[in-house]
Amino acid sequence: WQLVAPRDPTKPPTVFHWLPFIGSAVQYGNDPLNFFLACREKYGDVFTFILFGRRVTVALGPKGNNFILGGKSTVFNAEDAYTHLTTPIFGKDVVYDVPNETFMEQKRFVKVGLSTDNFRSYVGMIEDEVDEFMKTDSVFRAWQMNDINEWGQFDVVNVLSEITILTASRTLQGKEVRSKLDKTFAGLYNDLDGGFTPLNFLFPNLPLESYRRRDRAHEKMSQFYVDIIQKRRASGEEDEHDMMGALLKQTYRNGAPLKDHEVAHILIALLMAGQHTSSASGSWALLHLADNPDIAEAVYQEQVKHFGTPDGKMRSMTYEELRTLPVLDSIIRETLRMHPPIHSIMRYVRDDVPVPATLSAPSKDSIYVVPKGNYVLASPAVSQMDPRVWKAPNTFDPARWSDPEGVAAQAFKTYVDESGEKIDYGFGAVSKGTESPYQPFGAGRHRCIGEQFAYLQLGVIISTFVRKVELRLRDPVPAHNYHTMIVMPKKPRNILYRRRAFD
Ligand code: HEM
Repeated sequence: WQLVAPRDPTKPPTVFHWLPFIGSAVQYGNDPLNFFLACREKYGDVFTFILFGRRVTVALGPKGNNFILGGKSTVFNAEDAYTHLTTPIFGKDVVYDVPNETFMEQKRFVKVGLSTDNFRSYVGMIEDEVDEFMKTDSVFRAWQMNDINEWGQFDVVNVLSEITILTASRTLQGKEVRSKLDKTFAGLYNDLDGGFTPLNFLFPNLPLESYRRRDRAHEKMSQFYVDIIQKRRASGEEDEHDMMGALLKQTYRNGAPLKDHEVAHILIALLMAGQHTSSASGSWALLHLADNPDIAEAVYQEQVKHFGTPDGKMRSMTYEELRTLPVLDSIIRETLRMHPPIHSIMRYVRDDVPVPATLSAPSKDSIYVVPKGNYVLASPAVSQMDPRVWKAPNTFDPARWSDPEGVAAQAFKTYVDESGEKIDYGFGAVSKGTESPYQPFGAGRHRCIGEQFAYLQLGVIISTFVRKVELRLRDPVPAHNYHTMIVMPKKPRNILYRRRAFD
């Protein structure tokens, strides 16, 4: 009499669970990192868990990341893993709705819109938006009173979400989107966003109102962009310095131009890819600065040193200057180490794949086969918090990034992409390819292309905040909320602020 079927030694061990279909969904959904660590203790680096009927094989550590993120897209496939979640939101003929080679072409088109020239003009725009927000939004009433003894407070996620969409639309999305942000666009965005949840990932077709709202919002949003494109074409305004302007000029290798609906859908995809990732990262960064006034002071002093003027004010910075601020840079890197917004990177397994059972010390005698039909899951978040790699991983310690001998510095080497081209991302957080212990932006062919933009956006937002206000926390930095697609701080997440004497 046996409760559990004997284990097949050629396959990764399956995590013990009581409920056949649900499997380990509750443990994974509530706290994926601790779930993975507990499984690693019991089963090693490679194991499979059940997630609502799916068999998900996890491979941990830098070697696990390398195995999955460095795998061939014909074997570990992203489209098959994500399309049911993303296509209803982004739309047809882009990203995971097309073969991988087509999406790779689309990623190259987007890179054109993320040019240094464009970035130069974005710095001032982002600063203006944050400035205007503080001058007008009611949560900053205490700041508006111009009294340095007056403390106010704000919910950091609410504020950063608004500032992220304002700044992304003013820069990448273009003036038409920015001008409609308070009206048509915000409602459509919220309805689309309501369809980007773990529920949508797990159950693509539920007869729920939120799914219908998502679909209606997608149609309207797509039309909204197509109308703008057609107006731009009709009035000869195709040369705007924004992402739409760049996309309108691109042609596929076979000579076909991007169609209007493809441009529209790529813009929706970029909006969704950048919004929660950047607003979550900005929120965590401000929470840690509020929790560590001495570190916030170091960021402020760096600003004073570079941009302070003789009359005690501060001037604006250029993009080139933004890239030479090591303290600010280390704040962003350290934030993304402790709080990478994406905790699980998934692929669908199209063919049986062998993997050493012990990734850290592979041996010929212990090879598992990850069977076709499973999913694989990489979690760079685990290696970014691993005490075997990082000293005091739970401590927010930006200084670790300036130690030339430290692990952190070692994780940063010039990034070499698949074609062998060396990419200098400058001040961006660039990890050493698919086997790095630091991969907040993923690795391999699906690596993030928004990294430099995110650094620019976060860098200017954090600098502008630090210049204007002192920040404090009443409570400790909140725990992670894993119930949303992107890891957010749990509520309450209020930050206290007061106006700086120097403003
Ligand atoms: C891919 C993280 C901001 C656009 C990714 C991936 C990660 C990531 C981990 C890899 C996903 C995978 O392999 O399945 C982040 C973080 C951000 C950020 C931490 C901010 C702090 C942005 C922004 C944009 C963007 C601002 C757009 C402007 C993309 C795109 C992909 C991607 C297009 C490619 C997906 C693929 O090739 O499959 N990002 N991202 N991201 N991200 Fe970002």
